[in-house]
Amino acid sequence: MTNRPFYFTWNHQPTADAADAFPVQHAEHDEFVLQDGRRVYDFLSTSFQTSFGHSHPVIKAAIQKQLDVMPIASPKSTFPLKQRVSEKLLQLFDLGPGKIFFTLSGSESVENALKMARQITGRTKIAARQKSYHGASLGALSVTGDWRNPPHFTIDDHTIRIPEPADDPSFEQGRNIIESAGSDSVAAIILETISGANGVAIPSQQWYDAVQSTCCERGIMLIMDEVLCGFGRTGPVFAYQYYELKPDLVCTSKGVTGGYVPFGAVWTGERIVDYYDTEKLACGLTNYAHPLGLAALDAVIDLLRDSAFLDNKLALEQLFATTMQELTSSPHVIDVRCRGLLAAIDLDCAAPTWSDCFEKGLHLYSKSNMIVVAPPFVSTVDRLKEALDILKQQIAGVTVA
Ligand SMILES: Cc1ncc(COP(=O)(O)O)c(C=O)c1O
Repeated sequence: MTNRPFYFTWNHQPTADAADAFPVQHAEHDEFVLQDGRRVYDFLSTSFQTSFGHSHPVIKAAIQKQLDVMPIASPKSTFPLKQRVSEKLLQLFDLGPGKIFFTLSGSESVENALKMARQITGRTKIAARQKSYHGASLGALSVTGDWRNPPHFTIDDHTIRIPEPADDPSFEQGRNIIESAGSDSVAAIILETISGANGVAIPSQQWYDAVQSTCCERGIMLIMDEVLCGFGRTGPVFAYQYYELKPDLVCTSKGVTGGYVPFGAVWTGERIVDYYDTEKLACGLTNYAHPLGLAALDAVIDLLRDSAFLDNKLALEQLFATTMQELTSSPHVIDVRCRGLLAAIDLDCAAPTWSDCFEKGLHLYSKSNMIVVAPPFVSTVDRLKEALDILKQQIAGVTVA
């Protein structure tokens, strides 16, 4: 029996607390304040969602105001906030005519995108990358390619695994795998545009061009999972904008409300909108288009267009990119992959552990020989520089076993 009345997610449940558990008193701006008063820089934006820090006054005020006006709404109701935020979101996606399906998490965004693609194409199979994470619910986990899938007897007999872009730069193998499975049985290809905790893999334009043309030629839907890499995390608002992709569905969550309210949204293109103009939509959630989520998202969209916010974000991105570039020539560093305010650093030996870094005042992700960092967009250049200096020292101090 463990000593806590709750579970730690994705973790062993030891008698002492999980290895990366930490006692927090409160959090403000870009820091956690621990129960003993120490301050720890949130170098991972918590779990990649706290893009706007822990205490953004504009997001907090929007939620507080909505709490007084209407904290709950029927999924069937229409109200100005729902209409306005949907329209603003469609503009932000900038993918042409479409509609929004609201959710409460990244897993639900993926789950509903998969359901729509399968229903509309009448096909059952989904192609997904070998190294990927798409969520913890059974459907999203079935297309997930990492350690979180195998314990759950997932329903992935409908999943086709395509190789990592680095191992198949022309997508020839991926295309052959899809053809062998019967391309007319493949409903969709689901991809994190740029992957997150599985190593910030950044596919080439050539790879994405081949994926896009395979989808177009074979009537396969393209689902971009932008739950982690979207909403400004990798530079532009969405990572698919780098590659000028034309997806059928885009899944978002995490940063959409800065994490202040559990929320998500799926963009659906014309093919899907047209289908549901005549067929019944068999998807829904009790808390669909929750007003507190809508209010937070409304504020976040405004922030993403605010010039002072964007100037600061750009300055952080420049410092981050320069430092990551410098790190490529540091001892022990064998590869650095960086876009916007997301980076993975591979070492030739065991990376400094989460606890080592936490002791030095940084909360980040560390697994075997890799570190992943994703600072909040609202940090100051000085605070980010301080955190990057500590990170450099930690990396310089690693010892090869
Ligand atoms: C790319 C990606 N998709 C989906 C999810 C699932 O999101 P959630 O944990 O909000 O269900 C995650 C979560 O880490 C993710 O990184």
